[in-house]
Order: sequence, then structure tokens, then C-alpha cells
Amino acid sequence: MTPDVQATPHASLHDAVNLADIEALGRAALDRNALEYYASGANDEHTLRENRAAFTRARLRPRVLVDVSGVDTGTSVLGLPLSSPIGIAPSAFHGLAHPDAERATARAAHARDSVMTLSTFSNTPIETVGADAQGRFWFQLYLLRDRALSRSILGRAHAAGARALVFTVDAPFLGRREANERHRFALPAHLGAPNVASRDILAQVETDRGSQLANYFRDLADKTFTWRDLDWLRGQTPLPIILKGILTAEDAQLAAEHGCHVWVSNHGGRQLDTAISSFEALPEIVDAVAGRTEIYLDGGVTRGTDVLKAVALGARAVFLGRAALWGLAAGGQTGVERTLELLQDEVRLAMALCGATRVEDLTPALVRL
Ligand code: GLV
Repeated sequence: MTPDVQATPHASLHDAVNLADIEALGRAALDRNALEYYASGANDEHTLRENRAAFTRARLRPRVLVDVSGVDTGTSVLGLPLSSPIGIAPSAFHGLAHPDAERATARAAHARDSVMTLSTFSNTPIETVGADAQGRFWFQLYLLRDRALSRSILGRAHAAGARALVFTVDAPFLGRREANERHRFALPAHLGAPNVASRDILAQVETDRGSQLANYFRDLADKTFTWRDLDWLRGQTPLPIILKGILTAEDAQLAAEHGCHVWVSNHGGRQLDTAISSFEALPEIVDAVAGRTEIYLDGGVTRGTDVLKAVALGARAVFLGRAALWGLAAGGQTGVERTLELLQDEVRLAMALCGATRVEDLTPALVRL
């Protein structure tokens, strides 16, 4: 890919003081096809905006006169120690952002003691990313109508060292991102999707109109899967299963009953427009789960105070989607590392200013909704 604008990633990344600076660098490095794919939300993008606005509306209730000379941002997810409650959400096609693609993201997650969630729709094979992530990766599954292919992907993810299966449950069809429809989003010829897009498979997908990814989902994704089929999925993998895309207490309750962990998400505002923000959905989900599973959240996290608010209300960790992609576009592995570092530094400072020295000190009393 030849970017329209060639940024000077390292010098500029060094000067970046927040994630907005990195976003500006990342956006400038992308061509229209890639930028519209990453940036767009569904329809009028209300949910996309609301994810961030909801964090901003919530207010913190800081405590003072606490010894904060040592603040520890460390936590763990499913037993994996993290340097802070920040991971990387799944997103497709990192090769649109940087030639090192998912390998750069995986190396950054490993270098910063974070965890990367690798998309089914990666441009890099699972095995290669697994080697780079060195145990710091989860695998995100889209279930395809072709169950044999889905099974083989699951086996490969486990063999490659994935520590959990993140099953996306909000995308039987792809949401309508209108810019991608209008400009017919497609992968450039030099990029493939080696886990799921052999020549035979692609031959089944309409290519004459609209977003090619939306067409792929319409033609090949499994739309029949229900709660009853989770037993089938469990039989295919020994990994813990996380259901990503839960927004209600009702579904969180079902997830817990089925022994699955819960990932609160509206897919970055890319699926059902006007769906509730992830942050506003969190409290009822925490109540419904009542400590039975771990809970994660993505959607709109750009500040350390966002991380504090989500963790205080019951999320075990938050995950970065677009924010990680902007870092990747801005400077490959270095850019993703800088993104994680800046946000972790903000978390540490915000904890100190709230009188919290450990992640366990972040409780609901910290937040006024
Ligand atoms: C794929 O998951 C997408 O949101 O484009």
C-alpha cells in the first residue's frame, strides 16, 4: 500500500502526548480505502460517538490523603498477568495499516505485557502471529457456514498458543458502514486473509457491488447459531470461551449460565446504530453476572480515566480497537507500543489522583454516572 501522506512516524510518535496525537498521525498515513474501513461506524454513527461521550459524562469521585508513592497498574485476565488492564481488541486486516500487519501488533502486545486478540480476518496466518505474541494472544472467531473450516481454524488457534476463544456474537451480518458501501471497500490485491479466504471460498462471494466484506458476511457467515449451539462450540476447543458483543443483562445472564465470559461491546459502533454505549451497558451486565465470569469492555476508550471508570464499575480489562490501529498506522510495532504506554501512564496518574494504589482499589464508589 502506498500511503497518500508519508508521516515521519518515529520522530512524531516520540512527540505524541496522547492518543489523539497518535490518531492524527495514523489517519495521515492511510489511504481512503483503509481509513474509511477503520474509521466508519454503522449508518449515522450515533453509537460510535456515544461510546466516547458516555465515558465523558461519567464523573470521578477522587479520594485524597492516600500514600500514592507507589501505584501498581498490574492485573490479570484469565490468569495471564498484564501490566495494566488494557488489551488489544480484534480488528480485521492490519495489513491495511502497516506492512508488518498483525505481527507488529502481536510483538507490541508482548513487549508491553498486554494481550492481543487476533481477528479471524487477519492478513497474517494464525501460526505466525502466535509465534510473535509468545502466549499473549486470544483468538477471535467468526463462525462461518462452513463448519469444517470453522473447526480447522479453532484447532489452529489452539495449536498456535491462543489462551482464549473470543466468539463474536453480534455479527451474523455486517453492519452497514455507508462509506464502505459507497466506495466499495475491498482488500488491495497484495493482501490476503489466509485463515478464511482461499480462492474457492472467495469464488462464492459477490464482488460487483458494495463493501466486499459485507458481501462476504452475507454470503458465508453462519446466521443460524443460537445459545443451544454453544455446546457444539465448546466441544471443538478446550479454550475458555468469551462472548464478545453482549449489551444486555439478559444475554449476560445466559452467557454466565453457559459458562462463558462476557465481553461488553457494540463492535465499535459498527453494527447496530443507536445501540447502547458499552460503558452504559456495563452496570446491568455486572449485576447480572454477579461475579460468575470475567467481564471485558471495548468501545470508545481513549483516556486513562476511561479505563479507571470501566474497571471501577466491574470490567476486568478494557480493549483498544481503533486506538491500536492508529498506533499501528503511525509507526508499526513502535506505534502500538507507544499507544499502550501513553494510556498506561495516564492510568497510573489517574489512579494516583484518585487515591488508588492498586487496581483492586477501583470500586463503584469512584464513579458518579
Ligand atoms: C469486522 O469485524 C468489521 O467490523 O469490519
